[in-house]
Amino acid sequence: MSVESVNSRPTTVAGTLREPPVAGGGLPLLGHGPQLVRDPLGFMARLRDDGDVVRIRLGPKTVYAVTAPHLTGALALSPDYIIAGPLWESLESLLGKEGVATANGPMHRRQRRTIQPAFRLDAIPAYGPVMAEEAYALVERWRSGQVLDVTTESFRVAVRISARCLMRGSYMDDRADRICADLATLFSGMYQRMVVPLGPLYRIPVPSNREFNRALADLHLLVDEIVADRRASGQKPDDLLTALLDATDENGEPIGEQEIHDQVIAILTPGSETVGSVLMSLLLVLTEHPELADKIGDEVKRVVGDRPVAFEDVRELTYTANVVVETMRLYPAVWILTRRSVAETDLGGYRIPAGADVIYSPYAVQRDRRSFDRHEEFDPDRWLPGRGGQVPKHAMAPFGVGNRKCPSDHFSMAELTLLTAVIAAAYRFEHAPGSDTRPRIGITLRPRGLKLRALPR
Ligand code: HEM
Repeated sequence: MSVESVNSRPTTVAGTLREPPVAGGGLPLLGHGPQLVRDPLGFMARLRDDGDVVRIRLGPKTVYAVTAPHLTGALALSPDYIIAGPLWESLESLLGKEGVATANGPMHRRQRRTIQPAFRLDAIPAYGPVMAEEAYALVERWRSGQVLDVTTESFRVAVRISARCLMRGSYMDDRADRICADLATLFSGMYQRMVVPLGPLYRIPVPSNREFNRALADLHLLVDEIVADRRASGQKPDDLLTALLDATDENGEPIGEQEIHDQVIAILTPGSETVGSVLMSLLLVLTEHPELADKIGDEVKRVVGDRPVAFEDVRELTYTANVVVETMRLYPAVWILTRRSVAETDLGGYRIPAGADVIYSPYAVQRDRRSFDRHEEFDPDRWLPGRGGQVPKHAMAPFGVGNRKCPSDHFSMAELTLLTAVIAAAYRFEHAPGSDTRPRIGITLRPRGLKLRALPR
């Protein structure tokens, strides 16, 4: 089904549109809040048994959850749903209000036009050398038998690649560790602010709030430094930062300083958190399925031989790419997405009122037994040519769908495939004491605290 299944002028004939059923298991007063807090992934995954669209009660509030892939696609493609709601509000202190991830309407369309060229398929090869250099720098830092803090290593390489590709310059060497530390503090603090919205209490100067505010101020300062350095250099390399600094608004005027600032943050931040999270899940997969890691090693040997893996090899590393895709199916970094309806809408025959918060979970949709055979099984071969077509439309969308779809899908796939090939060809892994594989469900989904011992192949 497509966008036609969303009708923004629902028929007013009483009884034609159904109210979505209420999800099972709600408690008086608290509703489904306790279930959502206790087991968010399981809760979201079970909702489809209650209906294609269901109502969830969170205290006094009703939230609409969309569970069927044809309707998540219709929702994401419809202009009647915008980016708003608690998830985005909690992100605003970081992302600002003028960046592409939070803007709506004409401003969002203009911003996408500005950033899109940097992510186009034909722009990606130019990033290849940086991606390869960073992938090799990563494995060369590791020593035989060393215990890796996978969270730190993954975020670090993700930040460095996004920043070095999209904002060329040598500033990263001094600033990478600062950006990583700031982002780690901010992401855990923001998730807490989202699930436990205590409002003004977060302004009380206790150590955790002070640390959050310090990291936020430092990240904003860093971005100002990066922009100032670029301007002072007088250089205009062909990159995203140049595109932002030269961007004009609807009237042909240069965009404001605040918008440039928010745009840099809105691109750097999701780019690092998501790629870092998928890389952690990939390292978990390589550890728990050594046979997959061996096959990747064999593919690298066959395609590349003894020379280093280069970006140009990525297209031929099809098995490696399928492992990346299957990892994103079972462990989608963006596990929940939200929208707000701007009008009363008909979504697959259900009435969604104006101003409703609507959520859906790529995690739940991508693990649904109705869409995937052996839905919980890790099987990269399900993505072999000719087989992926059996998957219902929109049932596999780790980068989203529609006008908010991640601009960086090609960039991220190239980056993750290259990283996986370089890592799996160099090392195999085993869990070290204290390795915690449980999912950490925050703004992104990732393993909670992997500690892996790197053993050379
Ligand atoms: C949006 C996933 C990497 C920048 C999104 C959305 C998803 C997503 C699902 C859509 C949100 C929605 O529909 O509401 C991912 C995944 C990634 C990844 C799984 C890696 C595996 C990146 C990277 C960058 C980036 C590397 C930048 C360097 C953005 C931006 C948006 C976005 C700017 C907002 C787009 C808009 O609202 O128009 N991403 N992303 N992402 N992503 Fe990514």
